[in-house]
Amino acid sequence: MIPSELAADKTIAGIPARELADVYGTPLFVIDLDELDLEIDRFLQACTPRGIVVGYAAKALLVTALAEHLAATPVRLDVCSLGELVTAERGGFPAGRMYFHGCGKTDEELRAIADRRVAFDVIDNREELERLAALASSDAPVDVMLRVNTGIEAHTHAFIRTGGENTKFGIALDQLPVLLARAAELPQLRLIGLHGHIGSQIAETAPFLANADELLRAAEQARALGHPIAELICGGGIGVEENVGDPRPLEIETLAEELAARVAGRYRVAIEPGRALIARAGTSLYRIMAIKNQGRRRFVVVDGGMADNPRPMLYGARHVPEVMSAAVLGPDEPATLAGRSCENDEMGDYVLPAGLAAGDLIAMHTTGAYTYSMASNYNRFGRPPVIFVRSGHHRRVVRGETAEEVARRDLL
Ligand code: LLP
Repeated sequence: MIPSELAADKTIAGIPARELADVYGTPLFVIDLDELDLEIDRFLQACTPRGIVVGYAAKALLVTALAEHLAATPVRLDVCSLGELVTAERGGFPAGRMYFHGCGKTDEELRAIADRRVAFDVIDNREELERLAALASSDAPVDVMLRVNTGIEAHTHAFIRTGGENTKFGIALDQLPVLLARAAELPQLRLIGLHGHIGSQIAETAPFLANADELLRAAEQARALGHPIAELICGGGIGVEENVGDPRPLEIETLAEELAARVAGRYRVAIEPGRALIARAGTSLYRIMAIKNQGRRRFVVVDGGMADNPRPMLYGARHVPEVMSAAVLGPDEPATLAGRSCENDEMGDYVLPAGLAAGDLIAMHTTGAYTYSMASNYNRFGRPPVIFVRSGHHRRVVRGETAEEVARRDLL
């Protein structure tokens, strides 16, 4: 047994978790920049020599300081709302490396695209094609791509599957010829590429390759009509492991090699991962508020939950917890990690030491993607602060929301 005064708290990027909790409070959302840079490098090393362009899907996580950090790398940025665009602009991310996604863009968003606040638009539907053309001028055509629904289904959670003919995204293959012909009549737009994204958390290369094959066929149709198609964006969706140290479900080296073999040389290929770049860099840190043995279960209640960490409740996602406090003793026993929201807010059944007590710190790892970006004010909780850590240093990049801030925009 280790006497508690001799045992050290576990660290995040070399910083004791207790220090972070004391300085910033909990719940706390932590991004490790070293981890992020490692993944970006890994992607660039696998992709750049093979002619594959790497983008980052801002929806996974974007705050101003992250946009600033990414601006200093060669990655492009896909944004899907004015909010993401403004955040990127405030971080100094260059317009020429950004492009816009989305299936229901507002007039304001289309104007931002027509005003060249991004390099190009990925058009999702016929209405958008007409609306953007109406805002643009044939003297200076706006660059666009068409999002194609290639009909490829990835074997992933139904809620995050965005390809397949029964999904709302993109232009169905049987409607593509009509849109390609219509685009050829619109001198205000220049169709420079095609895009196909089939889903998220994908663990195999086959659906990516099938998607690329459909994009290649569609690109030939488009070129036959005179469209200057130069690039095919083959989506994001590269899966990550749920537990630190588990094998990676899909290695970027393998995907890059197979994609390049299929497409490179004929078109420039691009990918736009969100999760695979940022998930591993993120940690959510909590303090235990109560341990409750009720019925046949042991609940470990923490001071956060589905408001700041909604993926377990939404998708049954698992982010395996780690006890960060020193010298928590006892054998591992079943425990349900419970959030503090006023409903059955459970973050999963795990095994945790018997000696856990109120005040101990728990981290959930690999929460970098779609955790803070989907956080809500449910129960009027304030969203947590975001901090960046890098080899022993930490800094706040988003202040936590106070209760007053949560209520501030309300009118009487
Ligand atoms: N490109 C497009 C057009 C997308 O719709 C998405 C994600 C991506 C790229 C990035 O996919 P990633 O590489 O991150 O898998 N909230 C869900 C995930 C929704 C993904 C939506 N689209 C979750 O928490 O799992």
